[in-house]
Amino acid sequence: MSDLAGKTALITGGGSGAGSAMALAFAECGTKVWIAGRSEERLQKAASAHENISPVVADVTSEQSIKAMFETTGPCHFIIANAGASESAPFVKTDMEAWQRMIGVNLTGVFLTLREGLLKMPSQGGRLIAIASSAGLKGYAYVAPYAAAKHGVVGLVKSLALEVAKSPITVNAICPGFMDTEMTAQSIANIMEKTGMTKDDARAALIAHNPQGKLIDPVDVAKTALWLCSDGAASVNGQAIALCGGEI
Ligand SMILES: NC(=O)c1ccc[n+]([C@@H]2O[C@H](COP(=O)([O-])OP(=O)(O)OC[C@H]3O[C@@H](n4cnc5c(N)ncnc54)[C@H](OP(=O)(O)O)[C@@H]3O)[C@@H](O)[C@H]2O)c1
Repeated sequence: MSDLAGKTALITGGGSGAGSAMALAFAECGTKVWIAGRSEERLQKAASAHENISPVVADVTSEQSIKAMFETTGPCHFIIANAGASESAPFVKTDMEAWQRMIGVNLTGVFLTLREGLLKMPSQGGRLIAIASSAGLKGYAYVAPYAAAKHGVVGLVKSLALEVAKSPITVNAICPGFMDTEMTAQSIANIMEKTGMTKDDARAALIAHNPQGKLIDPVDVAKTALWLCSDGAASVNGQAIALCGGEI
């Protein structure tokens, strides 16, 4: 996709999982890619995969940190708000701290990243993408704060899409089902701990959500992001694109 070469992308949470898969995919298309996260070591390791990838340490829950991040990167054509985290607990055992953590990283983090990215966007325009989740389109038991945050991301994207519609900018959400990443490995460990299930059974329980009977490959998320940033996707705006094998 030659329309990506020579452009600049910022990917939060780019040091692992879907973020690092997207970073590599854009870098291979000739895009200069900034990857952001809190762990410098993790970012350095991911950045070593390609010479077009550079790390920038940032915490997406902090307004100051996001502003400093864009001071380092300068204007970016493609802003991908991907950083996220999930925790699970029964609703009545969810305390305020857990609620704030989930809203902070998964919703406020997207708000701060897209707002600052839009303010600094080059005059020729660009693309804003939020990595939401199938949990932004349906509910799952024991993750109400995470699902509330991801539904919030979808609402934010649909509203912002109307604001930018007359400009050369689009904003969309990608909503993967359970992916083959560290986050899902952690979910599997939690299920094992709380239910006594074996690792294989816990993994199978998550896979069972997807009618295609598999975890989503982060590379599929990367290819969808490449497409959304290509010239051919200029009319795609305000969409929440489900990548979950027909689960929704
Ligand atoms: N895994 C799934 O099944 C699944 C399904 C649907 C949607 N998603 C969504 O897809 C996105 C990527 O998930 P993943 O599976 O690739 O997870 P992952 O491998 O755990 O990656 C999450 C990334 O977010 C970064 N991060 C977390 N908190 C941060 C903060 N406060 N500031 C900056 N960076 C932060 C982490 O880096 P540091 O810890 O170094 O900061 C990490 O690199 C997330 O938004 C997630 O909710 C995941």
